Amino acid sequence: MLELNNISIDLNVQNGNGKTRILNNLSFKFEQGKFYCITGPNGGGKTSIAKVIMGIYKPTEGRIFFENEDITEKNITERARLGICYAFQIPPRFKGLRVKDLLKISAAKENMGLRNSLKSVGLCPEEYMDREVDESFSGGEMKRIEIATMLLRNPKVIIYDEPEAGVDLWSFHKLVNVIKQKHEREKAATIVITHQERILALADEIILVSEGQIKQAGTPEAILPGIKKDIECELSGICGGDDYAECCR
Ligand SMILES: Nc1ncnc2c1ncn2[C@@H]1O[C@H](COP(=O)(O)OP(=O)(O)OP(=O)(O)O)[C@@H](O)[C@H]1O
Ligand SMILES: [Mg+2]
Repeated sequence: MLELNNISIDLNVQNGNGKTRILNNLSFKFEQGKFYCITGPNGGGKTSIAKVIMGIYKPTEGRIFFENEDITEKNITERARLGICYAFQIPPRFKGLRVKDLLKISAAKENMGLRNSLKSVGLCPEEYMDREVDESFSGGEMKRIEIATMLLRNPKVIIYDEPEAGVDLWSFHKLVNVIKQKHEREKAATIVITHQERILALADEIILVSEGQIKQAGTPEAILPGIKKDIECELSGICGGDDYAECCR
C-alpha cells in the first residue's frame, strides 16, 4: 500500500561543504490495516522516515509509492489529500490560531466531533477551545492537542511521532488506548514511532531503525527480546564490563 523503495537522503552539513546521509538505501512495504511501531536509538532516522513519507524531506535517491502510484514528487498538501497524515515529534505552534480553528481545519467532516476529540485526549473543551495554539501551552498539552487533530482525520496512513513524549503517565495510558481504538475502527496503516515497550507490544510489526537503515523488522515476539537484551547490555557500563559476557549473553 505504501512502499519505500531504496530511499536515501543526503543533507548538506551546516557550516560546511560536505553531505551527511541520514537515510541509507532503505526499503519497506507498509500494508493497510496493520499497526507498525518504529523504534531504535536517538538519531537513528525514525523521524526522517516519517518526514520522507509525508513529503517534508525529499529523497536524494529512491522512490515512494502509495496505492501503486509514484508519489515521490508530490508535496505535503498533495500527500495529505491522498490520506497520509503525520503528528510531529515536536508539534508546531500557531500563534493567532485558536484550538477550535486548528481542530476545524483537521476535521474530515465539518465541525463534527471537535469537543469529543479534545475529551478523548483528556482535555476539557470549555477550558481549551478558545485558547491560542501558542507558546503558552505545555509540551504535553501540545502533544495531546495534536493527537486530538489526528482523531478528527480520516486517513489511510497515520503516523504518530513519539506520542508519549512529555505526556504524564495517566494520560499516556489513555492515549495508547485512543490510538489503538482509532486504528481498530478505521483500519488505516498506523505507524507509531516510539520508545515505549507498552506501545511496541501492541504492534503487528516492529521496525528497528538505526544508522539510517532498517536493522530488523518482525513481530513483537521476535524483536522485543533482542531490544531488551541490548538495553541490559548497556548496564555493562555500570558493572564495569567484567561480567558482560556472563550476565548479558
Ligand atoms: N534537517 C536536518 N539537518 C541536518 N541533520 C539532520 C536533519 N534532520 C535530521 N538530521 C540528522 O539525521 C539523523 C536522524 O535524525 P532523526 O530525527 O530522523 O532521528 P530519530 O531516530 O527520530 O531520533 P530521536 O529518537 O532522537 O527522535 C540525526 O543524526 C539528525 O541529526
Ligand atoms: Mg525522532
